[in-house]
Amino acid sequence: MSHAKSIKLGLMLHGAGGHMNSWRHEKAPADASVNFPYFRDLALRAEAAGFDFLFVADGLHINEKSLPHFLNRFEPVALLSALASVTHRIGLAGTISTSYSDPFTVARQLATIDNISQGRAGWNVVTSPLAGSAKNFGKQHPEHALRYQIAEEYISVVQGLWDSWEDDAFVRDRASGVFFDAAKLHKLNHQGQFFSVEGPLNIQRSPQGQPVIFQAGASDAGIALAGKSADAVFTNARTLAEAQEYSAKLQAQVSKNGRHPVGIFPGISPIVGKTIEEAEAKYRYLLSLLSLEDALAYLGRFFEHHDFSQYPPDGPFPELGELGQNSFRSTTDSIKKRAREEQLTLREVAYQTTLPRGEFFGTPEQVADQLIRWVEEGGASGFIISGPVLPEALGDITRLVLPVLAARGYWQPSTATTLRERLDIPFKTSRYSVPATRRDTVSEQ
Ligand SMILES: Cc1cc2nc3c(=O)[nH]c(=O)nc-3n(C[C@H](O)[C@H](O)[C@H](O)COP(=O)(O)O)c2cc1C
Repeated sequence: MSHAKSIKLGLMLHGAGGHMNSWRHEKAPADASVNFPYFRDLALRAEAAGFDFLFVADGLHINEKSLPHFLNRFEPVALLSALASVTHRIGLAGTISTSYSDPFTVARQLATIDNISQGRAGWNVVTSPLAGSAKNFGKQHPEHALRYQIAEEYISVVQGLWDSWEDDAFVRDRASGVFFDAAKLHKLNHQGQFFSVEGPLNIQRSPQGQPVIFQAGASDAGIALAGKSADAVFTNARTLAEAQEYSAKLQAQVSKNGRHPVGIFPGISPIVGKTIEEAEAKYRYLLSLLSLEDALAYLGRFFEHHDFSQYPPDGPFPELGELGQNSFRSTTDSIKKRAREEQLTLREVAYQTTLPRGEFFGTPEQVADQLIRWVEEGGASGFIISGPVLPEALGDITRLVLPVLAARGYWQPSTATTLRERLDIPFKTSRYSVPATRRDTVSEQ
């Protein structure tokens, strides 16, 4: 039975999984983050199961307290490029920071993946929360608001470059010797506040027109950016109420900009057991892989690597003032709020942040019910399965949960071959193939 709300699914390629110590779990290889055959196997399994896309997060600064996965991992563009050549239908979305890269290079890299994969590329736009990143690029770390201003101009430049060549610009007429139609080549000539880019880009558009733009960042500035520029968002809502609040804010920004609805994809780590006891046992095993010290370090990373081991763990969550505002603002705001409202101890906050039991816990029927509820009640269009441990989570979702969703009419794998089609996002028409009054402003500069 098909359903108008068939749930979309992505798989986060996050090494062994989103659990900080997933590398210690018996179901994943300890070197998962740099093990290409492992990634290839996950990608092929996800594709065969009907998942819509693979998703690679990223970061640009590490220290001794970083998560094990962050210490030694593949760069997203290169990883997705390799996966493009072994997969055929699944989307390939990767994270690239607008604070520490150049639009021309990034436009070119993503357009290349989009062409190699025949229209399956996506870009997760992030602004980089960690101030230490600046030290790897010989720059100053832009503060939160400025990062988002840069990101907005950056995306418009990249999209402008992607339209350098109209869809039928390359004539390649051997007889006459005409390789391209000069009237269908467009220089960007962008001169803005942060970037000066002439163009054109030296690669064509793809079967989906342009890669899909994802955005991750949930502060007001992040949501405003998504409302203007994103086709889809990656979020970290922990409860349906949080997801609904975020979704309402986002859709208000989207309507303000007169745009088509944006796909909302919370990252979730379901814990599924054939029985509730089995789910409990899986959770206990995951907890056993996590020391208090680990959980405090995980928590600390969101707060600019704050050292939480200095406080009594069973005392109240400490008062942190503005700490976190210039890094993971939306995440740290929500941690502080929850700690205050629920009067949690530091230990409780650390464990709940590092290994939440979450709303996707229990039997296949219970987990399916929650997935349907989030979609039906306006909290999500689909989900990115992030863990806790990927090989197990992927197997549980595929074997146990998808059959329940299918029986209820909420799962029907797409037959589409481009990422836009899979996510019900319209083909991105070139700004030069539409009447001049509807062209984006970037192309007019
Ligand atoms: C759900 C979510 C996922 C994110 N993923 C990444 C990531 O993969 N890499 C990265 O550098 N920053 C990531 N960020 C950070 C944002 O890009 C941004 O730098 C920071 O969180 C501040 O934005 P916010 O306060 O708007 O959330 C993520 C943020 C959120 C909320």
